Amino acid sequence: MRSEEIYRKSCVVMPGGVNSPVRSFKSVGMSPMIVESGAGDLIRDVDGREFIDYCNSWGALLLGHADERIVRAVCQQVAKGSSFGISTEVEEQIASKIVGLIPSVEKIRFVSSGTEATMTALRIARGFTGRSKIVKFAGQYHGHHDSLLVQAGSGVACLNTSATSLGVNPGVIADTICLPFNDVEKVCSFLRSRAGAEVAAVIVEPIAGNMGVVPPVNGFLQMLREETKRCGALLIFDEVITGFRVGLGGAQGLYGIDPDLTCFGKVIGGGFPVAAVGGKSAIMDCLAPLGQVYQAGTLSGNPPSMRAGLETLSVLEQAGFYEKLQQKADRLIKPIQEVLKKKNFPGCLQQVGSMFTLFLGPLKVERSEDLNALDYPLFGRFFRYLYEKGIYIPPAAQESWFVSSAHTDEHLDYTADCICKFIDEY
Ligand SMILES: Cc1ncc(COP(=O)(O)O)c(C=O)c1O
Repeated sequence: MRSEEIYRKSCVVMPGGVNSPVRSFKSVGMSPMIVESGAGDLIRDVDGREFIDYCNSWGALLLGHADERIVRAVCQQVAKGSSFGISTEVEEQIASKIVGLIPSVEKIRFVSSGTEATMTALRIARGFTGRSKIVKFAGQYHGHHDSLLVQAGSGVACLNTSATSLGVNPGVIADTICLPFNDVEKVCSFLRSRAGAEVAAVIVEPIAGNMGVVPPVNGFLQMLREETKRCGALLIFDEVITGFRVGLGGAQGLYGIDPDLTCFGKVIGGGFPVAAVGGKSAIMDCLAPLGQVYQAGTLSGNPPSMRAGLETLSVLEQAGFYEKLQQKADRLIKPIQEVLKKKNFPGCLQQVGSMFTLFLGPLKVERSEDLNALDYPLFGRFFRYLYEKGIYIPPAAQESWFVSSAHTDEHLDYTADCICKFIDEY
């Protein structure tokens, strides 16, 4: 198998053979896929096997692989030069487009990864408020920079001092407070306590996507908005996954919340490395060169990536785009929900629009401690079963799966059949 051979060679020259840990397939106990190409809803590995893809580059590909509109736009730009380190018109065009679509965003700065976007958002918040503490939520992921790489406690509000990773200086995370997602009472009382007055920002995935798909409970986001206003902290929505995924207005449009800052990524780059932080002018103008908060990037606003993003956004604006996407997701999900209801299967499926997770083990996931019920061996079996059948889902038990506009009815039905059969035979 070429995949195995390439992986073996990769392990010699790259740590764990990969450039991002989950690609190693460690949690599903297999040698990883080495992909060769993608088209529409399919990816093909170097051994010629095809898979219907529900990872879609971790949600970046809302239009599927190698969409011809994106390919054309990017190739045209590459032919004119790929990077200048000087401003280009396309940056203004995509900035204006996003400002026009997201009412809370008056100004925006582009960066190259979601990690950079959330890191920059925290710096802006600290610069703007003159405060140092940051509140994040258990089970949420905002990229791999130090301040937010803090492991959650088990659902109890706590001042968390243990980092998720070695190499994170305890001093850096001393100002990071980890609270339980979806616990309206605890979070509210923390923000109302004396400690609330030291908080520069609360950063939240409004729909959690990194503990699998976990929607906010009623009133949680509204409480965050009201209480951050009351205590003088900024509310940062990390919409790296949800931005333009759950609708043109993102999660903030869906739930009617007006955050101070928003982080974008994934979809706005159409499969290219683009992310951004945007928000109210008064806050964004803290950034250099206008203000004293420094942020910069050699490849920020990289023209081919900007073109890919702009082209993607204009497709999403077409009438009926999100309705059709929702229909596709429902076509896959409904039969699975039905069989889950009928069978006494240990699991649940949670969905918002075209993002969803079939959790194996828990019957409901609202908070990070609910993930303690995950059945990892069962997930490994499930992953390998689907893989054998030519279906690729994210290779970890608590990730979001993504439907793209490129998924065909035939492939959605086939996937639903396979999953229902697995549940039926459990
Ligand atoms: C919500 C969220 N924020 C931030 C990030 C970090 O983005 P990146 O991997 O582009 O650095 C991710 C990555 O998956 C994410 O899901």
